[in-house]
Amino acid sequence: MNKNINSFEEYKIEYEKSIKNPEEFWEELANNFTWKKKWGKVLSWDFSKPEIKWFEGGKLNIIENCLDRHLETRGEQTAIKWIANNPNEQSRSLSYKELHAEVCKFANVLKNNGAKKGDRICLYMPMVPELAIAVLACARIGAIHSVVFAGFSAKSLSDRINDADCNILITADGGFRGAKITPLKDISDEAMQSTPSIKKCIVFERTKSKISMQIGRDIWWHKEIIKANSDFPAEIMDSEDPLFILYTSGSTGKPKGILHTTAGYMVYAEYSFRNVFQYKEGDVYWCTADIGWITGHSYIVYGPLLAGATTLMFEGVPTYPDAGRFWKIVEENKVNIFYTAPTAIRALEAKGMEFVNPYDLSSLKVLGTVGEPINEDAWRWYDKEIGKENCPIVDTWWQTETGGIMISNLAGITPSKPTFATLPLPGIQPCLVDEKGKEMEGNNVEGRLCIKFPWPSMARTIYGDHQRFKNTYFTAFENKYFTGDGCLRDENGMYRITGRVDDVLIVSGHNLGTAEIESAMDEHENVCETAIVGYPHPIKGNGVYAYIICHNQPEDEERLRKEINDLVTKNVGPIAKADKIQFVSGLPKTRSGKIMRRILRKIAAGESDNLGDISTLLDPSVVDEIKTFVQ
Ligand code: WT7
Repeated sequence: MNKNINSFEEYKIEYEKSIKNPEEFWEELANNFTWKKKWGKVLSWDFSKPEIKWFEGGKLNIIENCLDRHLETRGEQTAIKWIANNPNEQSRSLSYKELHAEVCKFANVLKNNGAKKGDRICLYMPMVPELAIAVLACARIGAIHSVVFAGFSAKSLSDRINDADCNILITADGGFRGAKITPLKDISDEAMQSTPSIKKCIVFERTKSKISMQIGRDIWWHKEIIKANSDFPAEIMDSEDPLFILYTSGSTGKPKGILHTTAGYMVYAEYSFRNVFQYKEGDVYWCTADIGWITGHSYIVYGPLLAGATTLMFEGVPTYPDAGRFWKIVEENKVNIFYTAPTAIRALEAKGMEFVNPYDLSSLKVLGTVGEPINEDAWRWYDKEIGKENCPIVDTWWQTETGGIMISNLAGITPSKPTFATLPLPGIQPCLVDEKGKEMEGNNVEGRLCIKFPWPSMARTIYGDHQRFKNTYFTAFENKYFTGDGCLRDENGMYRITGRVDDVLIVSGHNLGTAEIESAMDEHENVCETAIVGYPHPIKGNGVYAYIICHNQPEDEERLRKEINDLVTKNVGPIAKADKIQFVSGLPKTRSGKIMRRILRKIAAGESDNLGDISTLLDPSVVDEIKTFVQ
């Protein structure tokens, strides 16, 4: 294993080096992997196109690096330890050797069913080891995986399948989550009514729910896998060949299929995993995310496996069968590194210490958070009650688009500060810009967060829409990647993310586009216009607040609220449901017709006494009406 950065001094030296000589810096790290052929140029880039290439001409397969190269040194070590939703169900451990065999077998299943290099394969699966196996098998055959979070609706699933033109869908009969079963195959069936590109649907048996199988199209995982050989030579890929697509919400329009490529992603996922969490040989590492999100891709699957770690995978939810579940898992598995989301921390804090106290958490060494800014209260609770003031907390800022952690302290090595993501990782060059795009120098400044130099795991495009990729990330500020986040830099140069500056809402750590929720609501026949904003929510971070203009005065407001939220569930998924729906007769708009969300946000946050200048509104009187509403 490679050496980690092990002092603040060393961090500063590495950082300096990575800025002065980025190519040399990353090349040295890339040398530690298994390549079929060495790359030519380390980096070529042009943000105006944008075009970014790392390790061009290199040939490799990322799965050989995740699995094959560990077989000799750690073949018997547990690669994935899986914990079932139901605490009485036996957990499962797969050693590196076993995982390798399973991945090869499933790669053969894929091949036997017509999959080949470059195909897009959609995965809509519960958190079972087979999800990781399927992801890895896709990469082994050179197919591009597109994992869709199993909480998304049939419509979201079919939109994503169609956008990427996937030819295979891998799903399960159902998924266990807490006390509920998600009927994944039924949802897939509904989705597949409008996905002509899908030729095969491979179904993993998990819940033994009654489902229907369409002859010729649908096949069982377990029936295919017994026919499959456990040998599968990894496809040889180019450094810049696509590895996966992962959808993320945008501030307008449909979700964006963020495309990541092979070699740069690999190098960065491994490097950031080891250094941020200060992973040491033998540590048990647990990230509670779902593989349906980028956190699961980079820090349940790829990062830990590339580093040869033991990664825990949990099928369930933090509150089932009770709010002590996380801590029970930590105790039983002697977890050393624990990585979760602020929303989970707040939810568990609210349940009280009687769910924490029974458990021995002394195995913990490092704690982490991701997904949204963590408020100071939650940070203190996490530090005191979970870490027993003995575990550094890494507050890791990054995005689906960045592929890996960008700004974070390195556990116990670089300084931490509550609510601050702190300092950039080596190789990452953040900057703050003002509204005109001018870079703000020095400390004690606040602006928009941009990155001014490429890093290996950055997204390369939006699948099928390079123009949108350019418009979204590379046009607001010339020659810079724009993150969409607001940020401040304190007197010591430490970064604190203040939240989105666009119309993306982070709810319980999930990235939701207000436009997407609005268009789902607009489908209701009585809905004329909607405006979605976020408001501070004690557990979710942001709650969803909907202002809705109806065609006809609703007879039963409660019923209409439910119908509207049912549409959101159907079109986007239950996570996007509105917490509050207010019916209004008009919305505050500028003369040019743009909704003034700033005003709606203030009202939703209960700050209607402080609305600022509303004189530019087309009709300022609507504000008075909206303000008087109490729910
Ligand atoms: C957005 C990206 C990265 C994996 C999970 C979310 C927010 C993420 C932090 C943090 C403050 C954070 C940002 C970012 N965010 N981590 N540590 N502190 N904000 O990925 O769905 O692509 O969302 O999440 O606003 O832009 P994502």
